[in-house]
Amino acid sequence: MQNLIQKAETTHSLTKHEIVLLLKDNSTNNELFAAADRVREKYVGNEVHLRGLVEFSNICKQNCFYCGLRRDNKNIERYKLEPQTIIEFAQKAASYGYKTMVLQSGEGDYYNIEQMCHIIREIKKLDVAITLSIGEKTEEEYFAYKQAGADRFLLRIETTDEELYKKLHPGMSLENRKNCLKNIRKAGLELGTGCLVGLPGQTLESLADDILYFKKLNADMIGIGPFIPNENTPLRDEAGGTFELSLKVMAITRLLLPDINIPATTAMETLDPNGRLIALQSGANVVMPNVTEGEYRKLYELYPGKICVNDTPAHCRSCITGKIASIGRSVSNAKGFRGG
Ligand code: SAM
Ligand code: SF4
Ligand code: FES
Repeated sequence: MQNLIQKAETTHSLTKHEIVLLLKDNSTNNELFAAADRVREKYVGNEVHLRGLVEFSNICKQNCFYCGLRRDNKNIERYKLEPQTIIEFAQKAASYGYKTMVLQSGEGDYYNIEQMCHIIREIKKLDVAITLSIGEKTEEEYFAYKQAGADRFLLRIETTDEELYKKLHPGMSLENRKNCLKNIRKAGLELGTGCLVGLPGQTLESLADDILYFKKLNADMIGIGPFIPNENTPLRDEAGGTFELSLKVMAITRLLLPDINIPATTAMETLDPNGRLIALQSGANVVMPNVTEGEYRKLYELYPGKICVNDTPAHCRSCITGKIASIGRSVSNAKGFRGG
């Protein structure tokens, strides 16, 4: 195992078989996390990039089996923020010092291209980078967002296991998901993707395939989080993913893609009260604090126990800055593009 970790740290490549061995064996986890931490420091430094997350609508036309926003969940109150409100939340976040805004929502057509582009153009005036995380769109839409000023797009592949993908995403296809990722790249947006860990029926082999897919795609950002069962979904009785396995998938991703951005995800902190700090010390270099104001935070309920739902953006900002300082790291003042 030590040899495999050393190989990954120096060559940034592993075979599928080697990744499975590392995922299976837990005797050298600390060595794995330490190696990912060294690679993170060497390639992307000690600064942590904060991205302010605006959850602007929980309305979704898709029906992903794991997600609380799925359209068949009648147990949540749906909302969508007016364009002006989204812009105001971004303005507030910029005043707290955020250099990137992430606009995230369920998948829907409640804003047409022109309205989305208007929101992007207005937020762009704040001199911040903009990331969109709004699901599967047409090639024209990705190009239009880029032209309006968007910089990045996050669309997790969720799983590269074709059978599993089909089972969990009625009416969707892995092929189309991959096509969207291709179009995001083509449009000149930084490409973010990632996967869920611990989906029912997911194997270590398929997680190894996910990691190798990230490598092949040469994604600019990879978000990895445990699947957390939601009682309002068909997967309510499943076991869910573990913090440890999610951390391992993340650490191996850092070893294979040394210079990309990797967030310490909110779902990790939901499973472990120090989850984000542990992730930042095991390969991650990004945190995405919630900057949605007021009641909406509670309504964006992907899974139970989501952190920060009763906190304010101002509180989260100082909370996370303090936590980052406590591990000897600092918050970056830059927009945090890959390689820059
Ligand atoms: N609708 C867009 C999409 O699917 O790309 C963006 C919003 S979606 C809520 C963002 C991410 O939440 C998904 O990519 C998925 O991985 C994650 N997610 C959904 N349900 C989850 C759950 N039960 N546990 C952990 N993560 C979950
Ligand atoms: Fe909708 Fe995204 Fe949730 Fe799927 S993961 S149900 S597309 S919000
Ligand atoms: Fe929200 Fe700590 S980041 S309370």
